[in-house]
Amino acid sequence: MTNKVALVTGSSRGIGKEIALRLAKEGYDLVINYARSKNAALETAAEIEALGRRALVVKANVGDVDKINHMFEQIEQEFGRLDIFVNNAASGVQRPAMELEEKHWDWTMNINSKALLFCAQQAAKLMEKSGKGKIVSISSLGSIRYLENYTAVGVSKAALEALTRYLAVEFSAKNIVVNAVSGGAVDTEALAHFPNREEMLAEAREKTPAGKMVEIDDIVNAVMFLLGDGSDMIRGQTIIVDGGISLLV
Ligand SMILES: NC(=O)c1ccc[n+]([C@@H]2O[C@H](COP(=O)([O-])OP(=O)(O)OC[C@H]3O[C@@H](n4cnc5c(N)ncnc54)[C@H](OP(=O)(O)O)[C@@H]3O)[C@@H](O)[C@H]2O)c1
Repeated sequence: MTNKVALVTGSSRGIGKEIALRLAKEGYDLVINYARSKNAALETAAEIEALGRRALVVKANVGDVDKINHMFEQIEQEFGRLDIFVNNAASGVQRPAMELEEKHWDWTMNINSKALLFCAQQAAKLMEKSGKGKIVSISSLGSIRYLENYTAVGVSKAALEALTRYLAVEFSAKNIVVNAVSGGAVDTEALAHFPNREEMLAEAREKTPAGKMVEIDDIVNAVMFLLGDGSDMIRGQTIIVDGGISLLV
């Protein structure tokens, strides 16, 4: 019996790590991908192995297509299959539009948008071997509304959501289901890069209609729903998990 395998990009820390751990608890073997945080990636892998599952740790900057292709070669060699791909890794330069340089734009778009296309192409080839698969990307509210300093990331997330719709249509013929989950502010290390971190957190705490901030588990629960069997007829959608804050003017 070969076990089912899931790849979560950016699973050394934060939301990606918790998605990987939840998938391990559901019985999946995991591919843990990271760019810089080797020790954190190894710690995630150790936690997965302690749950009785296998973990392959792959260092790969997903903004680089050669690195993506090398990562998938390693997945094929180690497991020979892929059932789930969670496109979670993200980065980005936080600046007002007038201060963005070409390299900032390219960095952000490559990691947050381009990676989905070129990882999904490789994932689909492996998923076709078992006749089905599921892909979920993680987006953010900046794709649909203004967030201060968030121009490059917001646009990259809008592209990710549009690409999710295109892939959902074309991959349906391969029996691969493609969706996304978009979240309101979650207090992870990612927010350390926001010049206006404290204001963002205060706004989220005070204004979220649900009366509390979104937590990592809220995002993970939505991802697991989309990865599960009960959601097969949801295609190309971005489910917003924000406690209602994006409904406010
Ligand atoms: N936190 C929020 O408020 C929030 C809200 C909505 C949506 N999201 C989305 O949720 C996802 C996870 O966010 P998070 O808050 O968990 O972020 P985080 O704590 O900063 O973690 C980011 C993860 O992505 C990895 N990563 C970054 N650049 C990478 C690259 N080029 N190649 C491969 N891996 C890379 C990091 O690994 P290394 O440390 O090894 O670089 C790390 O594992 C992102 O898509 C983010 O946009 C976050």
